[in-house]
Amino acid sequence: MGASEDAFTQTEEDAMTMAVPELETPEKIAGFFVDLFDRRGGVKYGEGVTQTEHAIQSAVHADQQEGGDALICAALLHDIGHLLHEDGRYHAAEGIDAVHETVGAAFLEHFFGPDVTEPVRLHVDAKRYLCAVEPDYFDRLSEASILSLELQGGPMQADEVKAFEASPHAEAAVALRRIDEAAKAEGLTLPGIDRFAPVIEAMARTSQA
Ligand SMILES: [Fe+2]
Repeated sequence: MGASEDAFTQTEEDAMTMAVPELETPEKIAGFFVDLFDRRGGVKYGEGVTQTEHAIQSAVHADQQEGGDALICAALLHDIGHLLHEDGRYHAAEGIDAVHETVGAAFLEHFFGPDVTEPVRLHVDAKRYLCAVEPDYFDRLSEASILSLELQGGPMQADEVKAFEASPHAEAAVALRRIDEAAKAEGLTLPGIDRFAPVIEAMARTSQA
């Protein structure tokens, strides 16, 4: 199972981001994302692990928490925005904020409900939030995270902190952020990405119900 080359055709209006493929069933949706990691997840992104390794480690960490399949699915797919750019470059290294969380959440909205999409959308804001409310949080950020934090606007101001805390998805976004930071260990033996296909299917099914 997997997406055809057609799924990667660009539109004229949106030459940077791949077109949204038509996927009618949860199984096809899961197959598409597994295939996307297989095709494009081998690239490093300024950390010591590949996109696929980072995604799998994130899902494994999420599996050990209370957030259920929604958090596991969000963790697995939280950086999917990085894999949707047609040029496949690592933008932060070039001083470009590619707003991967917005690109990723907008794409995921076609297949999943807000329990998956909103933590993804907010996981960068959650970093800016934690830097504002937890003084030692910044010290634990990786170099790549510090570089992207600068491009993303730095720690939140007081009014931004309030607005963030008012979101019903703030808690899940913070959980996802902490998972994200923890999921960059090198040299681990990990399950295959396809091990999480049933979780993707379950969340796709939930949003279609
Ligand atoms: Fe991440």
